[in-house]
Amino acid sequence: MRITVTIGDVTTTETPALVVNLFSGVTEPGGATGAVDRALDGVISQLIKEGEIKGKVGDITLIHTMGKIAPARVVVAGMGPADKFDAQVVRQVSAEVARYLRQKGINEAVTIAHGAGIGGLEPTTSGQAIAEGSLLGLYKFSTYLSPSKEASADLEDLTIVEQNQNRASEIENGVAAGIVAAEATILARDMVNEPANMMTPTQMAEIARRVAEAEGLTLNILESPQMRELGMGALLGVAQGSEEPPKLIIMDYRGDPDNPGNNLGLVGKGITFDTGGISLKQPGGMEAMKGDMAGGASVIAAMKMIGQEKPKINVTGIIAATENMPSGSAQRPGDVVRAMNGKTIEVINTDAEGRLVLADALCYAREKGLTRLIDVATLTGAMVTTLGKACTGNMGNNQELLDKVTEAGRDTGEKYWQLPMFDEYKELIKSDVADMKNSGGRQAGSISAAFLLAEFVGDTPWVHMDIAGTSTADRTKGYQVKGATGVPARTLAKLARNLAESGT
Ligand code: BES
Ligand code: MN
Ligand code: ZN
Repeated sequence: MRITVTIGDVTTTETPALVVNLFSGVTEPGGATGAVDRALDGVISQLIKEGEIKGKVGDITLIHTMGKIAPARVVVAGMGPADKFDAQVVRQVSAEVARYLRQKGINEAVTIAHGAGIGGLEPTTSGQAIAEGSLLGLYKFSTYLSPSKEASADLEDLTIVEQNQNRASEIENGVAAGIVAAEATILARDMVNEPANMMTPTQMAEIARRVAEAEGLTLNILESPQMRELGMGALLGVAQGSEEPPKLIIMDYRGDPDNPGNNLGLVGKGITFDTGGISLKQPGGMEAMKGDMAGGASVIAAMKMIGQEKPKINVTGIIAATENMPSGSAQRPGDVVRAMNGKTIEVINTDAEGRLVLADALCYAREKGLTRLIDVATLTGAMVTTLGKACTGNMGNNQELLDKVTEAGRDTGEKYWQLPMFDEYKELIKSDVADMKNSGGRQAGSISAAFLLAEFVGDTPWVHMDIAGTSTADRTKGYQVKGATGVPARTLAKLARNLAESGT
């Protein structure tokens, strides 16, 4: 889809469909919606009076203009209550509207910059939210579907009309940023939706190579012999059951080459399929475990965004990619592995593999001199039980960095909630035979997993994001489409920008 911004007046712009908006509780629409209402002899206010238009978030009303104004149709999109309005509402509504137009077979439309007037949003913010919402809402994973006859028309052109020249160019900047964010998020979604016979560790490395080449990042791939030399026994223990060679993918963005200490490390879990290994998972729903590389995909996507946005900070993305398979060469429950920092782990449950591969990836990140670490992982089923799909659970050792992640999420609309790391929980991973065990049993499963990771970050400020719930959506709603979400790629890129701007 193409998104453009033009200067003009909405009532005189020829288009198959003009999108305007309405806050709930408003009886006499103002701004552009008011102008359209007057040009249509008050039909919108009439429909509000009759209760047909309520302005609830995502509500859509279609009005045919029958030649009264230049647009052939007017789409009134509900924005909800004015006091709950923000960029996230614009994202969600833009997505619902885009899918509505597509379903009606309308392939071009004009919209006002939602919220940039009465709503109080910056024009840039509005433009960005419209672009992100429309592009992400129209997302489809159709690689393996034979082309069907009905699925012909797609919304191909969206034009944002604004009267003021300066505001129009601000909206344009926002649209450009939104396109960058949406395209990278779509890359993450595609990687996660891709079946595991296609999205192997080798394929993840290939996609990282393409991103690195396009955005001018340095790429380094470690193969198992190098991992062995570095002493990555925890990662290799997981990989040993699979025929697919593991890859440690390292992507480097140098935005502040004169200050190597001004850096951020993003570490992603890249289990391209998680069978559980010898501690085999139940077959029901196991296909969802093709998405166990969502953390890694979001890191690659964030690196793509960062490469395009060019913040003044150095960012390294590290993705530990391997399958977790049962086989004659697979690791066994009870095995003890030694990670890169020399610490030993008793493998109680081979299905707790994410923390094992991350242990070595985090050690590697520390050795590289990274001064702040964020890891992203579909780590525990317990997180889905705890927080469901509304927000990601964050844990860590540094409140300031934790707060910065939450704050970045307020702008991207990706939500975070912090879980405690009280010392008491640490006992859950005590082992009789090794420095720790990889499973803490049924209590506080997400927190005990974080405590294992904490053993490998030392005193480096670190945040662990458990995206087991948020990496996929059960149904299509707003800008999320059933399947992969791409969370938290946009937040990671926003965090890099915020850290670069604060210069600390
Ligand atoms: N990849 C899973 C966690 C997961 C579950 C992600 C559901 C998304 C949806 C992880 O590797 C795993 O299997 N964790 C185990 C840990 C347990 C054995 C300690 C779990 O959560 O059951
Ligand atoms: Mn597992
Ligand atoms: Zn897993």
